[in-house]
Amino acid sequence: MATENPTDPDERFTPVTEALATRGWGVFPGFVPPHETEALASECRESWQCGCFRHAGVGQGDSLQFRPEVRNDKVLWLDPERVTPAQGRWLAVLEELRRAINHSLYLGLFEFEGHFALYPPGSFYRKHSDQFQAIGLRTVTAILYLNENWQPENGGQLRIYLDGDNTEPYVDVPPEAGTLVCFLSADYLHEVLPATRERMSVTGWFRRRE
Ligand code: OGA
Ligand code: MN
Repeated sequence: MATENPTDPDERFTPVTEALATRGWGVFPGFVPPHETEALASECRESWQCGCFRHAGVGQGDSLQFRPEVRNDKVLWLDPERVTPAQGRWLAVLEELRRAINHSLYLGLFEFEGHFALYPPGSFYRKHSDQFQAIGLRTVTAILYLNENWQPENGGQLRIYLDGDNTEPYVDVPPEAGTLVCFLSADYLHEVLPATRERMSVTGWFRRRE
């Protein structure tokens, strides 16, 4: 991964835990090497081609709704019982990250839930929070992008609003392959701007216990 000593979890995850502890968000280009994002991207594309993706919803459980005017990406949830080797390697990194975050931030994160997300050209996800009002269990959002050679004219940035409900300031993150984004789920409204090109990610959340 991004450090010289990939077996040392402290070193590899320190930038992430420090960013979460000091500001609550961070962007880490090159966190995952190309051969890993390529493997995940080809699985994502294959699952897309076999029709395994579903329309993404808004809310959860009984309040799940399909609102294409809010989001029109497609998702495929990762099934921990049926992970492929590439998914398993990424989930193992996330498991170490979960431990590192718990170690330094005492957030009591106990599991990760996540999905592949594919935004066909023109798709978007309007400004939202990742914490549902009724159940505030999603605590840290972690997104890994899978798109090689993303160009500014491709759009599709993740826009993270840094000051609550205010429209400024914000940071725009291009969804370039290998970039990891983490933020405290309850604290940052964000949106996905429309892209001119297919846009893929592994998106998920570390959760607290009920
Ligand atoms: C989400 C989300 C952002 C992205 O799925 O909740 O905000 O950049 N995704 O894919
Ligand atoms: Mn979100």
